[in-house]
Amino acid sequence: IIPVAELNTKEKRLLPFPVYNLLRRLTPVRFDESRSTWDVFRYEDVHRILKDPAAFSSVRMLSDKERETILTMDPPRHSQMRALVNKAFTPKIISELEPHIRSITNDLLNAVLDKGAMDMVHDLAVPLPVIVIAELLGVPSKDRDLFKEWSDILVKGPEENTDEAFYQVMAEKGQATEQLNAYFAQIVEQRRLEPQEDLISLLLSAEIEGQKLTDKEILGFSILLLAAGNETTTNLITNAVRILTEKTDVQQQLRHNPELVASFIEEVLRFYPPIQAIGRVAAADIEIGGKSIKKGDQVVSWVASANRDETKFADPETFIIDRKPNAHLSFGFGIHFCLGAPLARLEGQIALRTIIERMGDIRLAADADLTPIQSPFVYGVKHYPVVF
Ligand code: HEM
Repeated sequence: IIPVAELNTKEKRLLPFPVYNLLRRLTPVRFDESRSTWDVFRYEDVHRILKDPAAFSSVRMLSDKERETILTMDPPRHSQMRALVNKAFTPKIISELEPHIRSITNDLLNAVLDKGAMDMVHDLAVPLPVIVIAELLGVPSKDRDLFKEWSDILVKGPEENTDEAFYQVMAEKGQATEQLNAYFAQIVEQRRLEPQEDLISLLLSAEIEGQKLTDKEILGFSILLLAAGNETTTNLITNAVRILTEKTDVQQQLRHNPELVASFIEEVLRFYPPIQAIGRVAAADIEIGGKSIKKGDQVVSWVASANRDETKFADPETFIIDRKPNAHLSFGFGIHFCLGAPLARLEGQIALRTIIERMGDIRLAADADLTPIQSPFVYGVKHYPVVF
């Protein structure tokens, strides 16, 4: 059995997929003693777990500073809250943001185009989603550096596999959450007095069975959007550019057929998923892949492995720009399917299309030293310097 700690080297974090392939073949469902967690690697098993919230619960222990959100709720409460926030994220509402997202993208690229070099992460992939979500929530974009700092901490994993490192990260997360709570409490208060055309005002006026949401619920949801939407979309954009530089034939294909950008982004999601794994807790004793999982056991579904399962995808190790069908699991599946998927897709498509239209041949800078993001579930790099 290869412990997941094996994956904790720089090289493996930059390219973990061969290890997942090996684990999927050797131990498709296995218990990792060091993390007291079941790991599940096959598409079929991951799919089954995600589509059965009654058997695999999303409710988990939260620290006293964390808030319960739809991400950590089961039905029926999840269904009620989700129906409410779905109203703010319909494909129609999201598609209306297109011209605005395009103009933010152009502004960000204007600042670097003359130089012929940029850090894709710092100059585009980080600011774009932060500006968009800040505006949707109705938060001044001047505060976006604060957001970035807080949302980074919320998804951070320990630097090393020690108790000290673990408690250090927990303390940082507690502090960031506290600061975010205070920050949003003030905005909620302002919007209650003077409603605007933004998400927080919409949440303030919403009702479930005649009941308004509590301030705590509104704060929790606002923080969830920051935590769930920023770094993931940043990594989608950076991972997409990474593919263009690693596979120059794909870059050529996209230049010749920019209208393939939507299916290109889907294939990036499958090939380099921003979130590699999704956690659940077994709600009853249950069998998966011939293994007996006990009620209360933690189960981690490795989406990054399922996306390369040869029983589901033809030629899974090949990046196929117009792959069809492409039933990747990178946005999850079932009732918790990513609320922000239409927004993330739109931002990814606009960013890559604008890059292809406005930048010549893009390459990774010769002196680049890639550092993977230090988080067990997030797949991305801290900087991606390119020349063009
Ligand atoms: C849920 C991935 C962008 C908001 C999820 C889940 C995944 C995911 C895998 C399911 C988690 C689970 O089943 O436990 C991603 C990826 C993104 C992205 C890969 C970018 C490429 C966004 C954006 C937003 C967002 C931009 C918001 C603006 C949410 C929310 C949930 C969620 C609120 C919880 C849904 C629920 O529990 O019903 N996301 N996400 N995500 N995502 Fe995203």
